[in-house]
Amino acid sequence: MPGTMLMPQTLKLVGRASLLSKCFPEIWAEPGFKSQMRVIKTHKTLEDMPGPSTLSFFTDLFCRRGLARLHELQVEGKAKYGPVWKASFGPILTVHVAEPSLIEQVLRQEGKHPIRSDISSWKDYRVCRGHAYGLLTAEGEEWQKIRSILGKHMLKPKEVESYTGTLNGVVDDLIRRLEHQRSHHRDHVVKDVAGEFYKFGLEGISSVLFESRIGCLEPEVPKETETFIDSINTMFAMTLLTMAMPKFLHRVFPKPWQTFCQSWDYMFAFAKRHIDKRMAEVSERISRGEMVEGKYLTYYLAQEKLSMKSIYGNVTELLLAGVDTISSTLSWSLYELSRHPEMQAALHTEITTVMKGGSIPEAADVAQMPLLKAVVKEALRLYPVIPGNARVVADRDIQVGDYVIPKKTLITLCHYATSHDPSFFPDPDSFQPTRWLRKEQAHHPYASIPFGFGKRSCIGRRIAELEVYLALARILLHFEVKPEKEGDVVRPMTRTLLVPEKDINLQFVRR
Ligand code: HEM
Repeated sequence: MPGTMLMPQTLKLVGRASLLSKCFPEIWAEPGFKSQMRVIKTHKTLEDMPGPSTLSFFTDLFCRRGLARLHELQVEGKAKYGPVWKASFGPILTVHVAEPSLIEQVLRQEGKHPIRSDISSWKDYRVCRGHAYGLLTAEGEEWQKIRSILGKHMLKPKEVESYTGTLNGVVDDLIRRLEHQRSHHRDHVVKDVAGEFYKFGLEGISSVLFESRIGCLEPEVPKETETFIDSINTMFAMTLLTMAMPKFLHRVFPKPWQTFCQSWDYMFAFAKRHIDKRMAEVSERISRGEMVEGKYLTYYLAQEKLSMKSIYGNVTELLLAGVDTISSTLSWSLYELSRHPEMQAALHTEITTVMKGGSIPEAADVAQMPLLKAVVKEALRLYPVIPGNARVVADRDIQVGDYVIPKKTLITLCHYATSHDPSFFPDPDSFQPTRWLRKEQAHHPYASIPFGFGKRSCIGRRIAELEVYLALARILLHFEVKPEKEGDVVRPMTRTLLVPEKDINLQFVRR
């Protein structure tokens, strides 16, 4: 019987085998019936899906620090219920998928205009304030249009390589800033490296967006930069909470929603200020009869005749996307390298060999550094910045493993669980970059996909990788990095993104 043709009534029967055998023992005993049932059983419904009761999941989330431990709940959920389970995240029912082959199955059915999540407090905020969607939040044709404009400048390797000079200018300032910070400490410790890399991330993405610098890495960091970074952090901290709270609770406990909106307000205003300033400079030059040609993303967006509202929406989202992601990746990479001096030494040798005495790595240099890339891959496997992604297939039911998932169901892709699964990564909690270099040890292609997959995957991936490689290579050319205290362990926590639970403090010893 072709499974996809099963009628809803038949589907309801599935999983009720024990009941059938009791009520109709003669039919049950008939030769061939059970094997027929096994075929039918391969199509189960949401009703058959295991999962915690709403109450126990709610208790996990709100009473056992579950929101901060959502990544661990993926691992616990898989151990308890298997690779597919359902749970109610506040008012939202979501199906968790925690097996690479099943994640692949979902992503291969995502359709022409993939939807990450149609139930999102980020979208609610934009509707509420009348702002336009950016690439992160737009859907359908609107998303497709923005994606093709930005894709021309963010996805093509040659285009991305052309940002090397701009990004290297930011790396110069990062090294100066690290020098400055370490000089204030007796043992040359830089406290809270993630804090330093937030500023680096913001300066980096701003330079790509505006082709101008905003001073995040100066000894005196502008107040507005600090407030912008705080707003991102608060917004991320409030995202899951505002989604998990049913809407009527926003009126009873207004604080989370208000704080969430205020953070977004600041971010939108910050982006608008910088765009308007840049546009004003450009029109002034044009009015002086100068030729103006830009090599920055905001310019490209303006060239495509996107409305100003849409440019504000997109730039805000790109600024946001370029801060925590870069900071987390750099922080965890250096944290692990500081705890694995032999790996750091091997990487240093690779970098100095390729650089042959040169001091500023370019895109062509980092392209010849396989261990550098493996270190970043391994850091992203252990600490995927986005520990759980999502998809909604809106127009049809899809099959995932044994289950038929009704259209419009929110499907959570448990990337943290798969990238920590010992059946795909032996000794999964240990930092072993060389696992990515052994040809014979190929991994399931969907077991660790930190940049997502397919048409809706990370559009900033190439820029992010280039930025991280340039920064990491230069840091290691200048410094040997050690833990502040031997044996100091920092664990990750979920704040929508996966971030360090406490400060990562590292000693930067000049080479
Ligand atoms: C190591 C750094 C980064 C990681 C790990 C990362 C990861 C991701 C992931 C997992 C997604 C969702 C993909 C999906 O749903 O399949 C995403 C989307 C996105 N990322 Fe990144 N990202 C990083 C850096 C950046 C940077 C630097 C930018 C901006 C320049 C950026 C801009 C975006 C945008 C705009 C989207 C939405 C794409 C769309 O919906 O079409 N990301 N990123």
